[in-house]
This record gives sequence, structure tokens and C-alpha cells, in this order.
Amino acid sequence: MTTVKQLMLGSVLTFTSLSALATENLPTIMVYKSPTCGCCTEWVKHLEDYGFKTMSHNVQDVNKYKQKANLPHGMGSCHTAFVDGYAIEGHVPAEDIKHMLTARPNIRGIAVPGMPMGSPGMEYGNRKDAYNVISYTKDGSTEVFSSH
Ligand code: CU
Ligand code: CU
Repeated sequence: MTTVKQLMLGSVLTFTSLSALATENLPTIMVYKSPTCGCCTEWVKHLEDYGFKTMSHNVQDVNKYKQKANLPHGMGSCHTAFVDGYAIEGHVPAEDIKHMLTARPNIRGIAVPGMPMGSPGMEYGNRKDAYNVISYTKDGSTEVFSSH
């Protein structure tokens, strides 16, 4: 007879092995940031905590990469990253990146404009401002991807 406890244990184990498999298959994220950006480095640590491999490039002109990312006007943040054909702008949570890579929507990328307090890499005590992750297409149309 299967008890509730056994059922729960079963689902925990399944969940653990699934996420381990997913982590193994996570692609490398290429990050372009200025050499002096501290919050960029914190964001990269956050990605690695969630199982991503990363490669950081210190560049003098980050705007060049925002153009490469087809980033619409007003959506900029401190760093620009690329993974598996998608662009990532700013302090996007790793879980949203995983969601994008799994769902593979027809977008150019996702962005967190500005640098909201409490977003990954922007932790400042207990302060947490509400913010949206915005998805955008090559032709510049935008949509809310997730809210935090
Ligand atoms: Cu930042
Ligand atoms: Cu940054």
C-alpha cells in the first residue's frame, strides 16, 4: 500500500533527478560587461548558482553588444549576454532564462531594464522592488515575460 509520505518522497526524487539532468544540458552564457561592474559579477555568480556555465568578457563599449542584441530603446541595463541564439539584458533571474530555453519562444531576447533593487545581483539588504522581465522581438515589439 502506498502512503502519502511515499508518494511525496517519490515526487521529490523525480524532481531532483529531472533538475540534475537539466543542469547538465544548460548552455554557456556569454556575458559582456564593463571591467568595473560589481553587480554584473554578482549576477554571473547567480547564474552559476543555478547551474549555468558562463564566460565573461570585459569590454569598454557595452553599447556595441546592445546593438548586436537588437535591444529596443529604453530597455538597457548594465550588461548584455547571449545564450543559445537569445539575448539577455540586465539582471534577469536564472529561472526565467531556463524557462525561455525550455519554451523556445519566437523572440530575440529578454530584458530587465535598469537595475531594480532585489533582482539577482542587485540584492541590497531586504529591499525588493517589483520589476518585470520583458521579452522583445527583432522588430522591437515587447511583452511582459514574467513579473517579480
Ligand atoms: Cu547591474
Ligand atoms: Cu551588470
